[in-house]
Amino acid sequence: MKKDIFTIESNEKLAQDVFKMTLEGDTSNITASGQFVNVELEGLYLRRPISVCDLDGSILTLIYKVVGKGTLQMSHMGKGDTLDLLTGLGNGYTLEKSGVAPLLIGGGVGVPPLYLLAKRLIAEGKKPTAILGFNSKGDVFYEDEFRALDIEVFVTTADGSYGIKGFVTDALRNCGAYSHTFSCGPEPMLKAVYDASGTDGQFSFEERMGCGFGACMGCSCKTKYGNKRICKDGPVLEKGEIVW
Ligand SMILES: Cc1cc2nc3c(=O)[nH]c(=O)nc-3n(C[C@H](O)[C@H](O)[C@H](O)COP(=O)(O)OP(=O)(O)OC[C@H]3O[C@@H](n4cnc5c(N)ncnc54)[C@H](O)[C@@H]3O)c2cc1C
Ligand code: FES
Repeated sequence: MKKDIFTIESNEKLAQDVFKMTLEGDTSNITASGQFVNVELEGLYLRRPISVCDLDGSILTLIYKVVGKGTLQMSHMGKGDTLDLLTGLGNGYTLEKSGVAPLLIGGGVGVPPLYLLAKRLIAEGKKPTAILGFNSKGDVFYEDEFRALDIEVFVTTADGSYGIKGFVTDALRNCGAYSHTFSCGPEPMLKAVYDASGTDGQFSFEERMGCGFGACMGCSCKTKYGNKRICKDGPVLEKGEIVW
């Protein structure tokens, strides 16, 4: 874990209540896709965890949805403003287990960490497919960015206003054979993917957190191998260890 001041390069609206922020700073401690940063915000006691969406040298990309005080404060910031971040948090995804044709499944703000994961899998010669799930057309973001990676992309919306109507699992039948799943999203979505997928997989949990670095047990969850802290032993858990 490393604590550093990052300078905002850009902060733009991507979709309904969803913003993309790029920041410049010391990213050397970020080692894996699926890791997160913890953002300090003025007047708030607890930092807010946000997944690493992309990394390019010293430029870090975060995508966040405005749901409360902290993310609202972030949405009001602009170029040149600074943020205090803890970086290199969480275990992240393990690429070695992906097989040749992994399936990446993201729901809402679970989509961002899959972008860096897709880039890293492609760099290793793998052929990922992505399923991006949203509630409605106005919520869709990063479809073009995923398509620009030259991979197969399916978009689902719960209300059918764009792409395939339904949940991410409704797109599974459109995908060819896959070797492993990598998913991130709300817990009901993760459970549905867990039940519907026929392969091993890695599931990233966006649990509510306290400290974010393993000290408070505020994010403890039960697994087949005992209690784990989502912030430090996760947020990514293997299919075989999850207890619902
Ligand atoms: C490992 C991890 C990675 C995450 N990555 C992202 C990301 O890339 N983009 C993104 O937009 N969000 C992400 N989140 C969720 C994000 O941390 C919360 O939305 C944020 O902390 C809310 O802060 P707030 O002050 O705006 O809202 P608050 O005022 O704290 O809460 C407002 C509402 O949001 C709910 N909420 C707060 N925290 C969470 C949470 N962790 N999960 C679900 N609901 C929550 C509260 O129950 C409440 O209803 C991630 C969470 C974790 C644990
Ligand atoms: S949030 Fe403190 S141990 Fe995980």
